[in-house]
Amino acid sequence: MNLKNTNILVVDDERDAALFIAKALKRRGASVETAFSGTEALGKLEQNQPDICFIDMRMPDMDGLELLKRLKGRYPSTEVVVFTAYASIDTAVEAMRRGAFDYISKPVEPDELFSCLEKIQTIQKLNRENRLLSQQLNEQRGYMKIVGEHPSIREAKQITRTVAPTNSTVLILGESGTGKELAAYALHYQSLRKDRPFVKVSCGVLSDELLGSELFGHEKGAFTGAIQRHRGRFELADGGTLFLDEIGDASPAIQKKLLRVIDKQEFERVGGTQTIRCDVRLIFVTNKDLEEEVRKGTFREDLYFRLKVVPIKLPPLREKSSDIPLLVNHFIEKYSRETNKKVTGISDEALDLLCSYSWPGNVRELENTIERAIVMIKGQIIDIPDLPDDIVLDLNLQVVNQQFSLVKAKENFEKRYIENALRKDRGNVSKVAQRIGLARKNLYQKLVKYGIELEQYKKQEI
Ligand SMILES: Nc1ncnc2c1ncn2[C@@H]1O[C@H](COP(=O)(O)OP(=O)(O)OP(=O)(O)O)[C@@H](O)[C@H]1O
Ligand SMILES: [Mg+2]
Repeated sequence: MNLKNTNILVVDDERDAALFIAKALKRRGASVETAFSGTEALGKLEQNQPDICFIDMRMPDMDGLELLKRLKGRYPSTEVVVFTAYASIDTAVEAMRRGAFDYISKPVEPDELFSCLEKIQTIQKLNRENRLLSQQLNEQRGYMKIVGEHPSIREAKQITRTVAPTNSTVLILGESGTGKELAAYALHYQSLRKDRPFVKVSCGVLSDELLGSELFGHEKGAFTGAIQRHRGRFELADGGTLFLDEIGDASPAIQKKLLRVIDKQEFERVGGTQTIRCDVRLIFVTNKDLEEEVRKGTFREDLYFRLKVVPIKLPPLREKSSDIPLLVNHFIEKYSRETNKKVTGISDEALDLLCSYSWPGNVRELENTIERAIVMIKGQIIDIPDLPDDIVLDLNLQVVNQQFSLVKAKENFEKRYIENALRKDRGNVSKVAQRIGLARKNLYQKLVKYGIELEQYKKQEI
């Protein structure tokens, strides 16, 4: 075993024994101090906190138990192993009770010493990894907070805080990318169920049969391919929260089963007869207008009434643009940490642009924009050239902000117009020229003027 970078203190009033052990440890690369009395050991501890400390239990000036108590009081993470005389098992037990890692009976055999050290190293490594993981988890949870002060977001946060500790079913509504999943996480982590599972199912991507078995599980032989019993997400989420995304896409059969779970907290696995009870907090999410779906007859009205008891509405970003600066700073901090770059802020001009853009992809689009800028950036401040063309050349923005001259704005428009046409006709110049009413020759001139490469549009054909 290798003891490099390990600080060890050996405390024993029998000098020869202490020096013998120190020598064996040094041979394996440890840096070792020795102390020949309890008092001397306390002095050494002042100078240097050891990772591991060996203490003889019987010493004239201060007994080992007393030294152990003082050491653990000051340095709880230092592991202590005690040396005991062959017959004094009681002392060993008492030492373990006071926090010693292990005991070794005297005379000390090097093999026993090393196997004990190996155990300590394994545990210290696990502890370090554990600390790192929980630190990462806390950081992640910090980034999972809902950022924003717009009245609609304040209200959403308020409702989240109020209903989190209850078992009420919650319906979260909003366009794509508005933070529906984030709000669902917030609900879970503020609830009493936070240490239990948070389980996610999307009702939009699976076929009806698969979704049924995904949610409720199935018995062996329930359908072709059901070779063994399978527990569904409801069972996995027991005691925790189940997050049902895109509920507007669930079929009538699934809707009926969900209604029963909400009312009675019970269901059967697909192909099964045994009724299973569950304790699950349900969060439903949709970007569809469920009221409209009810009118059309595609969504059960009775289910809709149960879902909408506590609705949380998340507005599109364009309706809460006053939150953009806060969100931008939040994402700058997040991604500069993640990429290890020292990006400290954004220029006023670039922030103005972001605040006036319409954000069809909502907060997700804003987050991706900042992430991309930080990945590409050379300097420390995000500026207009670091933002995607789509945003910089947004037509509405140019009309509203007038950040370009009329000539430049017209040119920007013309370039975007032609690029779009090429995209549609996959780089076929004759077709484009005809469709937009321009002579081929003129179109070619414009391609050169704007530096538009035809190849990239042609490639799309493959
Ligand atoms: N108010 C907010 N504060 C901080 N981050 C946010 C906020 N709103 C959204 N985000 C971030 O934007 C991204 C998209 O959010 P989320 O996945 O929750 O959207 P969604 O509404 O579930 O979208 P979709 O309907 O497409 O599934 C996530 O990374 C989320 O953390
Ligand atoms: Mg989502």
